[in-house]
Amino acid sequence: MGKTKWWQNEIVYQIYPRSFCDSNGDGIGDLKGITSKLDYLKNLGVTMLWICPCYESPMADNGYDISDYKKIADEFGTMEDMDELINEAKKRDIKIILDLVINHTSDEHKWFQEALKDPESKYHDYYIFKEGSKSINNWRSMFGGTVWEKVPGRDEVYLHVFHKKQPDLNWENEEVRKELYDMVNWWLEKGIVGFRIDAITFIKKDLTWKDREADGVDGLAKCTKAARNQPGIGEFLNELKENTFKKHDCMTVAEAPGVPYEELEEFIGEDGYFSMIFDFRYADLDVASGSEWFKRVPWTIKDLNQKIMDSQMALQKCGWGANFIENHDQPRATTKYLKENQDNKDAVKTLAAMYFLLRGTPFIYQGQELGMVNFQRKGIEEFNDISSIDQYYRAIEEGLTERESLRAINLRSRDNTRTPFPWNGQKYGGFSTEKPWLKMTEEHPKVNAVDQVGREGSIYQFYKEMINFRQNSEYKNCLVFGNIEPMESSENVIAYRRYTEDESIECWFNLGAEEVTEELKDSNVEVIWGNMRQVELKQDHLTLKPFQTVLLKEKKED
Ligand code: NOJ
Ligand code: CA
Repeated sequence: MGKTKWWQNEIVYQIYPRSFCDSNGDGIGDLKGITSKLDYLKNLGVTMLWICPCYESPMADNGYDISDYKKIADEFGTMEDMDELINEAKKRDIKIILDLVINHTSDEHKWFQEALKDPESKYHDYYIFKEGSKSINNWRSMFGGTVWEKVPGRDEVYLHVFHKKQPDLNWENEEVRKELYDMVNWWLEKGIVGFRIDAITFIKKDLTWKDREADGVDGLAKCTKAARNQPGIGEFLNELKENTFKKHDCMTVAEAPGVPYEELEEFIGEDGYFSMIFDFRYADLDVASGSEWFKRVPWTIKDLNQKIMDSQMALQKCGWGANFIENHDQPRATTKYLKENQDNKDAVKTLAAMYFLLRGTPFIYQGQELGMVNFQRKGIEEFNDISSIDQYYRAIEEGLTERESLRAINLRSRDNTRTPFPWNGQKYGGFSTEKPWLKMTEEHPKVNAVDQVGREGSIYQFYKEMINFRQNSEYKNCLVFGNIEPMESSENVIAYRRYTEDESIECWFNLGAEEVTEELKDSNVEVIWGNMRQVELKQDHLTLKPFQTVLLKEKKED
């Protein structure tokens, strides 16, 4: 089992501040809104919050375009509100991590503004400018089009891997790195316990800037091939860790797409750059890639099982993972993984337990604990997210009809999880007294917190029970710190074993709508937990009802 770490024991809840709770009736969620809901979160049992960017920003990418790292965006409140949130959370034993966005800033950040004003200023080298008025290569940005944007009034272009309002910082410049480390330490000294680190595998680019083979009708090539996880990135990541995170024993969870399993040791090993990373391989199993939603990929529960287990085994080999089925960039897990069964409560619970009891720190995205589903939008004008809009038009360019494109975007849009949180069944769902910045989901009168908190059988109560079971039951040691290995199972069943030297727990999850009987290797077992009262366990056979979860424990020999 090795040496355990404090952050292995956490349950993280992700908050998208714009959409969580609006305290002042402007239709936009804010920090005071979060503070007012801490008791709800405490009741659920979460121990840590990850708060998406709430820094000053023109909000081209809803806060992932920061114009001042040390200021709170007006619409979210003030630094006093942040201090209050940190303190109030602390009183309830809830820790906070913030989003660290250091691959790029906003084009409205003063560094970029200075660079534009005066090409001779030191800030010009804080970003990646190239001479000329056209793209210097064929790299495609993550949000569509070329990565190069012309500087108005000058014969110059600058690089942006994401939106043109998100110019990439030049990590080759030591002074940039130092500025960033100072800022990171400043936040850590404020009392937060760590960071979720945005797009961090993009900080190193292929400095030859050469073209890549085109992979779309636009003649461009995905920039991930040349601007993600490039050789030499390790030096930057190590330096970042040494100068910041390591000094504070903090928790870091990296958004690190593009890292092959063979390189995981460097990222999350004993001396790795981060505490843990998100692995997107099974989150993106329904699409060709995170930036090509319109290329849908068929998949089965067996494929999902395989991908999850490959991921778990790779993570276990060298470190620790961050387990999730939703976030602010993903659609609702119910719709994605359960398809036509998205409203089946047993199915939602089994999906939840299946990922939650994996080895790693569980992350829950706001609203996931209510079993929220995707929002169906009827036209492209109803979308807010820049990525959805880009993907819609790109899909059409690639030959899809408007209808097909809309369908693909609806299934994948980042707006699916960004809808305002449904606190109750009233107008605007108790999220705000005024019209929210993004439409509520249609089912909020039925699916909301007031309806579910304390109601037996609700999804919320199931999450609460499951958290309590992982954190506080007699099986805690095995469920939190124990190892994992896959078990053989039938087609629609995912099964794994969690174990320590002296404990063993079999975890069975039927993700199919048919009853199945599984043969057990060990007949000396007893039921310890599940999502249904009745379990059919006969000697060495376990019969799983549709969407049933069953946990079995090896009985101790007396
Ligand atoms: C990943 C974030 O999760 C996403 O929301 C954002 O658009 C990009 N990084 C760019 O910062
Ligand atoms: Ca507000």
